[in-house]
Amino acid sequence: MATYLITGVSRGIGFEFLRQLSSDSANKVIGLVRNKESTDKKIAAELGQRDNVYIFQADMTDYNSLKASVDEVARITGGSLDFIIANAALMSTWSVWPAIGDLGNEPEVLEKDILDMFRTNVVGNIHLFNLFMPLVLKGKVKKVLAISSGLADIESTAKYDLDGNAPYAISKAAMNAAVAKFSAQYKKDGVLFLSVCPGVVNTGQYDNMTPEEQGYAGALMAKFQAYAPDFAGPVSTEFAVKDVLSVLDKASITSGDAGAYVSHYGNKQWL
Ligand SMILES: NC(=O)c1ccc[n+]([C@@H]2O[C@H](COP(=O)([O-])OP(=O)(O)OC[C@H]3O[C@@H](n4cnc5c(N)ncnc54)[C@H](OP(=O)(O)O)[C@@H]3O)[C@@H](O)[C@H]2O)c1
Repeated sequence: MATYLITGVSRGIGFEFLRQLSSDSANKVIGLVRNKESTDKKIAAELGQRDNVYIFQADMTDYNSLKASVDEVARITGGSLDFIIANAALMSTWSVWPAIGDLGNEPEVLEKDILDMFRTNVVGNIHLFNLFMPLVLKGKVKKVLAISSGLADIESTAKYDLDGNAPYAISKAAMNAAVAKFSAQYKKDGVLFLSVCPGVVNTGQYDNMTPEEQGYAGALMAKFQAYAPDFAGPVSTEFAVKDVLSVLDKASITSGDAGAYVSHYGNKQWL
């Protein structure tokens, strides 16, 4: 039996983590969401009654709501926690496609876009880890997973001219650095911190693209294929989550994975 805390289980990859992990009735799976009511309804409609699933309200940008959730989680788990899966993230729609120099034509919007993503993806996760660390230290497994993105990889960004998604990629690179800092502190206590990219995953973000967006997407696809000629496009959340859980299962401090930033293959092959 293991206990899991997963952020952002309302939809997308987070919901799939919840679905797969709670299919084992021996697990206790706790999800944090902004809207508990709609998530409860979605779970009831799509998963039916699962007595090992618990949903609490918390916003990654609201420290007090995260703090309040600690006692609720501790009550369910008896005061410990085996896994954290820090999945929730803000992905701006405004800055997905244009290059950073073009985003600079609207400096105030750009600044807000970057700061919003930093608040959720970086500061929010730092608060989350600090608040739940006492529970993790009492857990048996002690694994903290941050869902990252291959777009944060500096070498492939430079080599393949991956100019889109700049504020998001910068926020994920900062999050990876934060994960490494947590690892540096808590490795001695047996806590494995790890950043893993789930690959390119279809969570509806490519639906209803304008012709201009389709042009950008086609150009990005060509760069992805230059990087990985076999790349066949986004995968389902089901496959992505299976891959990430396999990486998480195999990773350990003794194998040298502490604080690492890896792909769904468990290495630096991003596609
Ligand atoms: N999809 C991909 O291709 C891909 C690739 C690489 C990495 N990732 C990473 O995978 C993770 C999940 O992505 P996804 O595609 O499933 O995204 P998604 O469908 O947009 O879901 C994002 C989740 O984060 C939650 N969230 C956003 N802001 C929040 C906040 N302030 N407080 C609490 N929850 C918040 C959302 O909740 P609401 O429903 O309340 O908005 C939602 O549950 C993210 O970390 C993302 O960066 C995704």
